[in-house]
Amino acid sequence: MNKPPTKQIWRAGNMLYPLPAVMVSCARNGEKPNIITVAWAGTVCTNPPMVSVSIRPERHSYGMIEESGEFVINLVTQELVRACDWCGVRSGLDHDKFAFCGLDALPAEGMTYAPLIAQSPVNIACRVVQKIPLGSHDLFLAKVVSIHVDPDGLDEKGRYDLDRAGLVAYSHGEYFALGRKLGSFGYSVKKEKPSGREMEKEKTSRRETENDRNPGRYRKEEKRSGRDKGNRRRRKKGNPGSRKPAGGDPEKRKEKG
Ligand SMILES: Cc1cc2nc3c(=O)[nH]c(=O)nc-3n(C[C@H](O)[C@H](O)[C@H](O)COP(=O)(O)O)c2cc1C
Repeated sequence: MNKPPTKQIWRAGNMLYPLPAVMVSCARNGEKPNIITVAWAGTVCTNPPMVSVSIRPERHSYGMIEESGEFVINLVTQELVRACDWCGVRSGLDHDKFAFCGLDALPAEGMTYAPLIAQSPVNIACRVVQKIPLGSHDLFLAKVVSIHVDPDGLDEKGRYDLDRAGLVAYSHGEYFALGRKLGSFGYSVKKEKPSGREMEKEKTSRRETENDRNPGRYRKEEKRSGRDKGNRRRRKKGNPGSRKPAGGDPEKRKEKG
């Protein structure tokens, strides 16, 4: 093991990366729908499925989400990343973000106001259950109401194939395409069925280790197994003495040892 590097100590800040930067669509009665880019978003519970988004109260979208109690999280692909960034640096107060970015707002299952972004391959429709003021941001804790998925992104087994969707990660102020697959859930503990040669190798190395701990044991066993062969041969011939435990009388062996 290499010597661990000496670390610099930084003051407290946000350093949990990479993250998904998502486009959150929202609306309220009598107003055009809006989109806000959010990096402080996360999955917080499996059952019931719940998510959170943290939004500064000064954002135009904040009031929409607070009043309607709804929002839709739209996952961002490489095709959408420019629009995602733009929606994160311009306000819906001054712009119709859907129109400017050429995006379509479609009704989302279970939502009264918040639409989904048609061009995003996965849309997660959410209903707010709690608002938690944290400081700079308020956290909207929400239950997932429905999910819309583009069937083009599904693999043969019906699972969502992130690779095919071209989703984007956000890390320390920069957007990245996802890289190559390194493993899948639980692969670190999965026992692959070893090949014959690997099993032979494992056996030899186990023997070597055991021999280091208990020198001579295998030599004895080898001798014994030689005797076993003899016993087996005798047994075939119907010799009653061959019913003794393999390797002879264990009590006698103990005395010898
Ligand atoms: C990559 C990225 C991530 C962002 N994450 C957040 C966030 O988590 N919370 C937030 O309040 N604002 C975040 N912003 C800033 C808002 O998206 C931005 O202020 C936006 O213009 C607000 O739009 P609105 O005024 O139409 O609501 C982010 C911006 C970018 C570019």
